[in-house]
Amino acid sequence: MKITFLGHACLSIEIADCTILVDPFITGNEKAKGIVDIQELNPNYILLTHAHQDHILDVESIAKRVNATIVSNYEIAMHYQAKGFLVHPMNHGGNWIFDFGKVKYTNAIHTSSFPDGTYGGQPGGFIIEANGKTIYIAGDTALTMDMKLIPMQYNLDLAVLPIGDNFTMGIEDAVIAADFLSCKNVLGYHFDTFGFIEINHEQAIERFKVGGKELHLLDIGGSLEI
Ligand code: NI
Ligand code: MN
Repeated sequence: MKITFLGHACLSIEIADCTILVDPFITGNEKAKGIVDIQELNPNYILLTHAHQDHILDVESIAKRVNATIVSNYEIAMHYQAKGFLVHPMNHGGNWIFDFGKVKYTNAIHTSSFPDGTYGGQPGGFIIEANGKTIYIAGDTALTMDMKLIPMQYNLDLAVLPIGDNFTMGIEDAVIAADFLSCKNVLGYHFDTFGFIEINHEQAIERFKVGGKELHLLDIGGSLEI
């Protein structure tokens, strides 16, 4: 499984010959300008954690061009189905076996409205099991006791956690989340995009090290393989 950070909370995940795009927010991200070109993204699936602008901005243009299937909560899926897109609706606790692997839609503590204020269902995260590897993408969330449920069923190879604070967990809570998840390897996301969520990289990495965890911070366009 190859995971590429496309800035903010956007990830591209390659599993065998399938590409999964998560929470595309590229054309609105000053930090991704000149690095990521949405015309070069060809996902088979687009997974959306919730309906906020900084997670869905480029969904329509990408999904239309490549005919990708949008996977999200029921309300977000119905929103895009009404616009003629291919969708797969899920809801919290539900699993589905896709051609690339198994996906669970997990709990998150956050909000979820579309940019025009319409209801975007309840926010979530995803657990993806494929090719013997398991990753957890938390989505925008606070630290929550629900994270303790995950290692009862899964042995995570990687947890992707928001670390930018203000709108989501910050670093202190993300270290606790990694403990709750029994996961040593954390990929940080949802940081530095806007003034509200800027972090000190060295301090963040050190804080995780003190907590016995490893925090990976990728440059935009950078990848890690698990
Ligand atoms: Ni959000
Ligand atoms: Mn967000």
